Amino acid sequence: MSRSPGGAGSGVPDREIRILSDAEALARTAAAEFARTASAAVRERGRFAVALSGGSTPRRVYALLAEDDSLRSEVPWDRTHVFWGDERPVPPDHPDSNYRMAREALLSRVPVPPGNIHRIRGEDPVAARAAGDYARILREFFRLPEGKFPRFDLVLLGLGTDGHTASLFPGTAALREERLLAVPNRVERLGTERITLTFPVLNGAGRVVFLVSGEEKAGAVRAALGDPPPPDPPPARRIRPERGSLLWLLDRPAARLLQGRD
Ligand code: 6PG
Repeated sequence: MSRSPGGAGSGVPDREIRILSDAEALARTAAAEFARTASAAVRERGRFAVALSGGSTPRRVYALLAEDDSLRSEVPWDRTHVFWGDERPVPPDHPDSNYRMAREALLSRVPVPPGNIHRIRGEDPVAARAAGDYARILREFFRLPEGKFPRFDLVLLGLGTDGHTASLFPGTAALREERLLAVPNRVERLGTERITLTFPVLNGAGRVVFLVSGEEKAGAVRAALGDPPPPDPPPARRIRPERGSLLWLLDRPAARLLQGRD
């Protein structure tokens, strides 16, 4: 089921919402999107640059890309460059590490060249230094002049129950960052400092795909996608690729509070 309430002239960016029957159908659809976008990017530009989402929802997507022969063979892994949308302040082998989750579910099981994996150094005790190092990697990889932002071929994002995405949490300083590519971001509610890509980077992508599953996300989905917008729109609602496309993949429980859903 897909709805495209956006489109030219509507004042709403190219935004598509697809509601899938359950978490497995969502993961399969997301993995197919990943593979299709990867092969198109390599055909058109000779390489595929993707920023992976952390959290738990994407794990099954990554596992399918490693295990499903047709999906796995569609992705040009040797031309794929892997980045992350955010990282927790932990070492790469820590159970909370977004890098570790992706390595276990996907990267240790497909032939991405090690030099194509560009993780955020969550182990650095100085988060600002880790964010600066990551921004430099981005500038070098995308050959960015000063003041320009990278254009990822694909950015995968999740949605928190509070409407955060990446590590752009409500009420945090990173929401106001319009110049830097990656920043440390103090999240009082979690008692931790995370590292995250900023809105200009996420909104500079060619394609952004949200992966949202589960009843507990229904309120955040309505706040992010519902019409009219809530008085205090969540950070995820600010994801609107300026020159790209936006796809929300929801399973039925997550879409439960959306108006007009089938
Ligand atoms: C992270 C993610 C975060 C995540 C949401 C949803 O580092 O945790 O970047 O934005 O996508 O919190 O997480 P779940 O998929 O686990 O519900």
